[in-house]
Amino acid sequence: MRIMLKLLLLATLSISQLVFASNTTVRNDAYTYANYDQVITTHLYLDLDVDFNEKALSGFAELSLKWLTDEASPVILDTRDLIIHKVMAQNNQGQWQKVNFNLAKRDDVLGSKLTINTKFKAKKLRVYYNSTEKASGLQWLSPEQTAGKEKPFLFSQNQAIHARSWIPIQDTPSVRVTYTARITTDKDLLAVMSANNEPNTVRDGDYFFSMPQAIPPYLIAIGVGDLHFKAMSHQTGIYAETNILDAAVAEFDDTQAMIDKAEQMYGKYRWGRYDLLILPPSFPFGGMENPRLSFITPTVIAGDKSLVNLIAHELAHSWSGNLVTNESWRDLWLNEGFTSYVENRIMEAVFGENRATMEQALDAQGLNYEIAELAPGDTQLYIDLKGRDPDDAFSGVPYTKGQLFLIYLEKKFGRERFDAFVLDYFDSHAFQSLGTANFVKYLKANLTHKFPNIVSDEEVNEWIFEQGLPSYVPKPTSTAFTTIDDQISAWLTDESTLEQLPTKNWTLHEWLHFINNLPLDIKAERMAALDKQFDLTHSKNAEIAHAWYLLSVRVGYDVVYPAMSNYLVAIGRRKLIVPLYKELAQTEAGKAWAMKVYQQARPGYHGLAQGTIDGILKK
Ligand code: BES
Ligand code: ZN
Repeated sequence: MRIMLKLLLLATLSISQLVFASNTTVRNDAYTYANYDQVITTHLYLDLDVDFNEKALSGFAELSLKWLTDEASPVILDTRDLIIHKVMAQNNQGQWQKVNFNLAKRDDVLGSKLTINTKFKAKKLRVYYNSTEKASGLQWLSPEQTAGKEKPFLFSQNQAIHARSWIPIQDTPSVRVTYTARITTDKDLLAVMSANNEPNTVRDGDYFFSMPQAIPPYLIAIGVGDLHFKAMSHQTGIYAETNILDAAVAEFDDTQAMIDKAEQMYGKYRWGRYDLLILPPSFPFGGMENPRLSFITPTVIAGDKSLVNLIAHELAHSWSGNLVTNESWRDLWLNEGFTSYVENRIMEAVFGENRATMEQALDAQGLNYEIAELAPGDTQLYIDLKGRDPDDAFSGVPYTKGQLFLIYLEKKFGRERFDAFVLDYFDSHAFQSLGTANFVKYLKANLTHKFPNIVSDEEVNEWIFEQGLPSYVPKPTSTAFTTIDDQISAWLTDESTLEQLPTKNWTLHEWLHFINNLPLDIKAERMAALDKQFDLTHSKNAEIAHAWYLLSVRVGYDVVYPAMSNYLVAIGRRKLIVPLYKELAQTEAGKAWAMKVYQQARPGYHGLAQGTIDGILKK
């Protein structure tokens, strides 16, 4: 009897071990060459010199390895456009030796597979290398391209698969590493990273960083420039070039309040400091959630805090994305959908329900337009990337459809139960990566089956795996917007005049709704009248100008072209410029004009933006 029991116990133990092992070793990410089912990197040490003349980072990366197998196997890393000089491996006795490696031919999407043949289970590897000017994850700016115009600037943008263009690494969100780094550069420049940036660092061109929390490689980040720091609160501050530092501090001084509100809803902020790095206008995104140091476009410094939802968004990633991470880029909606939801909850908590609802409504309308244009397959939350570069499949779907799904669940289960679910989800998956299938399992066990007969499995599947939007999608409505719809009709039918529009008290959101809902058959005289009254063509708000230019191109109001040209040359944020180029490319004349402007603008754009716009204008 005893023996039977023991055997049974042994059997179940080994089965559960097997299950556990298979759970942790499935390679679900098709965008890495790494054999992370056999060996994983646990810590990274970077020793790099930042050379602005060569536009290169050079030095070595030291990877600490943990083996998941009994047998040694080659270690496969991701690289793209790196020059590898040599590889050293350390054995269990601590001895280093040179080892063979092979750098495969470059694949356009994945880069070059680096195979390191150690023949033993190395404890550590050192890859001596340098990045090249081609690095897709770096932008090297000349002094003229910066705000101060005197010193050069470097910044990285690793998401989705650009870490490999400046670090030889297992470039997948399924692997997490802690990291330390020594970065040397010109004496008068300051380097910052997604790590411990000390507010009173001595500027001597020799910097040391430590990130003791394990993060996926897409969150490793560096910025180097004529940066200065100003505190906003005990925990938050800004790194920026001097001439925009004060404006940024004034714009973003609600950041601490955002952290406090987020902590009340979703649990402790686990990363220590939260600083913002303000980048030059060529930064291709609005923001990037690099841990402890979000990277931020200067185009959101509007002077009236009207675009600070971007900060709420990047901060929200401290829970959704950085703490709980999508395991592959097919699961991006887990990062961005949750983050858009949390962002909006933070906005509601800090700025009130009206503003939060307006932001939801603007995004929902934008999503509807976008879905009409997207390939049907790209409207699924769990997207089939079909081997494309993840950057090429980027859209508002993971963001806003994801957010609407979560709003749907919140409404169905009630805030109290839904908030508790989200809090537990973050807590139970902290510092882990998961995919859509495991999320669905968790969702069922902890929400939809726990409180049965509220949301069915079919509905969950429809949201996540089917195209378009369910018929029962929540429709965020703002009474302020309904009022504006009425005012637009009254003006268009001459029941009221432009002077009668109560625009004095309009927020940015009301302006955007107004512009976005003017009819496409609007007469040029009416566009001119609007311009005369409100000078929208020269709006200083980057979002208003964007919406106005887009409408102007659509309705053929060409008065805006000179101003739009300046805009397109000055700004490199993809979300603001790509739709304009796309719209311009619809007509022969528009395309010819766009190509002329692009010739001037292209050298200032980030490689990512160049890639997208090259594609639009060459068709
Ligand atoms: N993490 C994203 C940016 C990103 C996503 C880069 C996918 C590469 C691949 C960032 O958090 C983001 O979503 N930024 C938005 C913010 C907006 C939705 C408030 C942006 O840049 O516009
Ligand atoms: Zn995001």
